[in-house]
Parts: sequence; structure tokens; C-alpha cells
Amino acid sequence: MKNIKKYLIIILIIISIIGLGSCKTMDNLKGYLSNRFSSPEDINKIEGEEIMLPEPQIESNNSLEKAIKNRRSVRNFKEKELTMKQISQILWAAQGITSKLTGFRAAPSAGALYPLELFIVKEDGLFHYIPEGHKLEKLDSKDLRIELMQCGLLQEFIEEAPLNIIITSVNERTTKKYGQRGIKYVYMEAGHSAQNILLQATALGLGAVTVGAFDNTCLLNLLKLPKEYTPLYIIPVGHEDI
Ligand SMILES: Cc1cc2nc3c(=O)[nH]c(=O)nc-3n(C[C@H](O)[C@H](O)[C@H](O)COP(=O)(O)O)c2cc1C
Repeated sequence: MKNIKKYLIIILIIISIIGLGSCKTMDNLKGYLSNRFSSPEDINKIEGEEIMLPEPQIESNNSLEKAIKNRRSVRNFKEKELTMKQISQILWAAQGITSKLTGFRAAPSAGALYPLELFIVKEDGLFHYIPEGHKLEKLDSKDLRIELMQCGLLQEFIEEAPLNIIITSVNERTTKKYGQRGIKYVYMEAGHSAQNILLQATALGLGAVTVGAFDNTCLLNLLKLPKEYTPLYIIPVGHEDI
């Protein structure tokens, strides 16, 4: 009986390693798991300031079809703040973990390598989204929206939006496995994540717009991110001012 148990455990370990695709070395395996389950060490953090986000909802009275039909780029925002429940829901749609077993997320990722890192800028500061545990870590207490708008080539609605989501990527996580082709995958993934944000915002009765026109260096400096990070999108979100 003891032996059967032992063999079962060994078989399970082998199956999980095979299931992890082509992680060739233990180093790869460690990287693979850490992307999914921990926060990167190379960003400036304010020690201890973690904010647990409310549980996301997986049901609503809205339909996906309606959200697709109604989504429009919104560039006029009311001053009204977003609730933590709304922010939680949007971040979950962008990169939340949707399978506790595997750590897989709301948006697909080539090789499940998860190169995207999301940051949010709002009145009370700059935060980094951590999918594992669905929480935020505070990186800065200042309202950076004016500076963010300047990095965004003076597109005024960036400053007016109560929430700006910044999608960045650490391309190496994907190029390590896929080479240069991995860059294409990262861009595709940013698109998947951004579309989830837009549709979730619409379903919540909010408006958003994807902004690709910004100065990369300005944005990296503002977020105090190392050069391994590539900023891909700024997504202002808020209540539409009609
Ligand atoms: C890659 C990309 C970059 C974009 N960059 C900007 C931008 O910098 N500023 C802006 O106001 N809109 C930007 N947009 C939004 C487009 O202008 C918008 O999607 C288009 O006008 C179609 O309108 P709709 O989104 O309401 O369907 C961008 C869209 C994409 C896909």
C-alpha cells in the first residue's frame, strides 16, 4: 500500500512537470512559477502597504453581447471616484487568477508565462496589481495623473480620469522561451487584457479608452521601473461625462 502511494506521488510529479510544457531546466521552472505566484522584486515598493481587493463577481445582469455592442472609446470623465469594488472587478478581468489550481489568468498567455505587469494611477497614489491574492501594493502616495498626462502627450482625459491602468510587460519572460517571436505574443496578450478591461468597464456602466500614444521613457521614469519593463498601454477609466 505504501509503495503504491509512493508510485502515485512520483507519477503525479512527472505528469505535472510534463504539463508545464517545455520548461527545460529547473531555472526555467522556477521562473515559470514565480511569474505566476509572486510579485517582482525589481520595482520600488513602500514596505508593508498592501491592499486586499474585494472579491470579484462572476455574475451580473449584463451580457457580454451588450458590452461588445456598447463599448466605445470614452474621453470625457466626471470627477467621480471609482469604488474599490469597481477597480477590483476591472483588474480581475485584466489579469485576475481564474483557476486556483493552475494559477491561469483571465486573459490568455503564450506558454502561460504571464509577461504583463499592471499598475494603476489614481488620486491617492500609484499601485501595482498582484494577481496572486488579488491585491494591490502601494508604490507611491502622490497623485501622478498630471505627470502621467504629460507622458501621454498631453491627452487631457488622462488627468481627468479617476483611474488609469498602465499595462507594462517584462518581455524576457516570454522571449526566453519563444525568442523574438515572443515579442509578438506579448503585444497580443496586452490586447487580450486591454479588451477585457474595456468590456468589463462597459459592463459596469463605466467608460474607458486605450492610449498607445505616450513617451516610453517618461512613463518608465514616472513609475520608477527598470528598463526591462516595456510600457504598452495607458487605459483611463471613469464615469462618462456626456
Ligand atoms: C493600439 C491603439 C492605440 C490607441 N491610442 C489612442 C490614443 O493614444 N489616444 C486616443 O484618444 N485613442 C487611442 N486609441 C483609441 C482609438 O482612437 C479608437 O479605438 C478608435 O477611434 C475607434 O473608436 P472606438 O474605440 O470607440 O470603437 C487607440 C486604439 C488602439 C487600438
